Amino acid sequence: MLNKRFWQRLIPNRKAPTRQSDACFWQVDIHSHLIPNLDDGVSDPDEAVTCLKQLADWGIRKVITTPHVSRDWYPNTTTAIQEGLAALQTIIAEHELPITVDVAAEYLLDDFFPDRLNTGDLLTFGAQRYLLIETGWSAPPLHLDDILFRIQTRGYTPVLAHPERYKYYHDNKQALTQLRETGCRLQLNWMSLTGRYGSSVEKQARHLLHEHSIDFIGSDMHKPSDLNTMERLLNPTDLKLIAEQPLLNQSLID
Ligand SMILES: [Fe+2]
Repeated sequence: MLNKRFWQRLIPNRKAPTRQSDACFWQVDIHSHLIPNLDDGVSDPDEAVTCLKQLADWGIRKVITTPHVSRDWYPNTTTAIQEGLAALQTIIAEHELPITVDVAAEYLLDDFFPDRLNTGDLLTFGAQRYLLIETGWSAPPLHLDDILFRIQTRGYTPVLAHPERYKYYHDNKQALTQLRETGCRLQLNWMSLTGRYGSSVEKQARHLLHEHSIDFIGSDMHKPSDLNTMERLLNPTDLKLIAEQPLLNQSLID
């Protein structure tokens, strides 16, 4: 159980939660894989319901779920993603879950992304047209700065998913600072703080938090088995670190 006085010190105008279920004060989750059979996320409606139920119980009111989109691994079309959303909304209504769901996507910046950008066939979220992007694990794309610039000149706001997980930035922390200075928002995975992706990723995540460089927090949850790991974040020390960030999640509440 979280300490009530802790919350009153942390967020003076916010009513202190009386249950751990209220812990996720950011209320909007912007990164997950909860549409069955589109990617490596949940594989059936029951798994989606299990995940959404727990997120709602932790205080998440709205989920913007983000299927992978890439040419080679997950060639999901915008139509297929929107159809998946409609099916998920039906499931939520049937189960009377106290949560709303919208959809965007997590776009891999592969060689085919520039064509997609040119056609404008992109799913975004929020009034700022936030565009969730990820880069390859072995190296960032060539001319990343140029791609980010083109994204912005077309009226989108790039949001780099889990910057702490890219090991090629672990010894070059300044690179992420520079990306942020050029207008790219940074989205931390909350499981990174639990050691789920290894100690070096956790260290980078904590560095970014101490620099107050995190614009969004996201679950990036794929399966119900992630829930046990995610619960470990819900401790006062880590929640305080998150509360100190210039988080934009709550700006997305309808
Ligand atoms: Fe993801």
